[in-house]
Amino acid sequence: MEITSTGAVLLAIAALAITAAVTEIARRRRRGVACETPPPPPVVNCTALLGLLPALLRGDVPAMMRRLYTEFGSVFTVGVLRVTFLVGPEASAHFFQGLESEVGHGRLFEFTVPMFGREVGHGVDDATRMEQGRFFVEALKPNRLRIHVDPMVQEVENYFAKWGQDGTVDLKHELEQLLLLISGRCLLGREVMARFDEVCRLFRDIENGLNLMSVFFPYSRVIPSNRRRDAAREKLHAIISDIVRSRKLQGDHHHDHQEAAGNGKHDVLQSLIDSRYRDDGRAAAEAEVAGLVISLLFAAKHTSTHASVWTGARLLSHREFLAAAVDEQEHLVRKHAAAAADGTGTITDHYGFLTDMPTLHRCIKEALRLHPPAPTMVRTALKQFAVRTREGHEYRVPAGHTIASPIVISNRVAYIYKDPHLYDPGRFGPGREEDKVGGKFSYTSFGGGRNSCVGEGYAYLQIKAIWSHLLRNFELRLVSPFPKTDWSKLVPEPKGKVMVSYKRRQLSTT
Ligand code: HEM
Repeated sequence: MEITSTGAVLLAIAALAITAAVTEIARRRRRGVACETPPPPPVVNCTALLGLLPALLRGDVPAMMRRLYTEFGSVFTVGVLRVTFLVGPEASAHFFQGLESEVGHGRLFEFTVPMFGREVGHGVDDATRMEQGRFFVEALKPNRLRIHVDPMVQEVENYFAKWGQDGTVDLKHELEQLLLLISGRCLLGREVMARFDEVCRLFRDIENGLNLMSVFFPYSRVIPSNRRRDAAREKLHAIISDIVRSRKLQGDHHHDHQEAAGNGKHDVLQSLIDSRYRDDGRAAAEAEVAGLVISLLFAAKHTSTHASVWTGARLLSHREFLAAAVDEQEHLVRKHAAAAADGTGTITDHYGFLTDMPTLHRCIKEALRLHPPAPTMVRTALKQFAVRTREGHEYRVPAGHTIASPIVISNRVAYIYKDPHLYDPGRFGPGREEDKVGGKFSYTSFGGGRNSCVGEGYAYLQIKAIWSHLLRNFELRLVSPFPKTDWSKLVPEPKGKVMVSYKRRQLSTT
């Protein structure tokens, strides 16, 4: 076969192109860059699922998750459920910071629509929901939190003033009641407090409407708890809408915000009433404000109650940390009373006092690491996306999968937290700061990224207000066994009663 000069040139070019392609493939292989789309995550097989049975029967959800994590690594799929789990900061990064168009809520939270109304949250489009999220951020930002501290502290003092000289109480019941009163006062406001029992009853019917059945059939009227929930939501919406309407009318009469504050209306409800949508500057409608404030109460109530109870149970089971927290209170009372502006030797700047407690802060933070009130967060993969693990494996998570970030496991990974199963508040202290060393998304009890908790600052303030008061005024002992977690609840909680004995005391501050 004769080869022309043009043919020889073409052949040489083709040979060069092939050589270049082969070299590139070899180079990518050497660097470990996959040429094809990454494989799907390892799938939890039937044998592994069967192996979970003993833990499942014990109701030990973390043990089940730990077992899967140990066997399958930080990214795995439970095929029958089409759920892909992402464990640890590296694998979870996409969960927290992926685009809303890739990693969104989908219809996972549809069950909240009949709880809070069609006007808010997952009843509205993404853009409106983000605006409403901004209303929350504005209402709970640090300079607004300052306003809530005095009423918070007052509620705490009034509540414990009703305890006797000594006695035994169920801490879970006590703190739930107290936190409801604080929420009533700081979130909902004065008018609601006037008909508090009725509001609590209605709110309880809405809460009880959240169960496994309502998650799958949120709108079914055949389910009695759904019917009770709907009736309660309508009534509670009407009560709050009336209050909003009347406040708006009063606001129209005198536009002076100071005056509103003077009337005791410096609560979160008022901040929501004052909120404006950015696109057209309109104020949130009455039904929107009602839905928003009810959803906020829901987000705040169980989380803060469980966090306060776990903090107490842990502190009262660890003498050394309890002693350190009490010492800190003694020191702070001396410091802040001496600095008080009114010269009476009592604390006047409660915000300054409560935000100056690193030891108690770490005790709460550590209780929340071990007992995160929201133990798993979920989203929907709206598009397929790739995740890279700490070990360098890459997986493609298919579109349509539910993705789950199990905080309860991520908060205990041994490459970030030393002896992760131990209660050790010092791990967050100077010289260790294990969560900071671990990097972004190492500590996710309050979530992370775009949808992280807007109430974190508020939550710490109220838990500190409670525990600071208890540590200063009572000697406390846990008299029931350290509580297990009740995983049968949709929001897991300390199981059974948490019995604590108390005796009044005067803290030495001299
Ligand atoms: C110790 C107490 C608390 C814990 C552990 C906690 C935890 C969380 C977590 C993990 C999320 C993210 C959920 C997700 O991404 O799916 C979240 C969201 C949220 N939290 Fe909290 N929370 C607490 C207290 C509060 C309080 C007191 C409030 C209100 C005053 C509040 C209001 C909210 C709201 C409105 C969201 C939704 C944010 C959004 O979707 O943009 N939380 N919380």
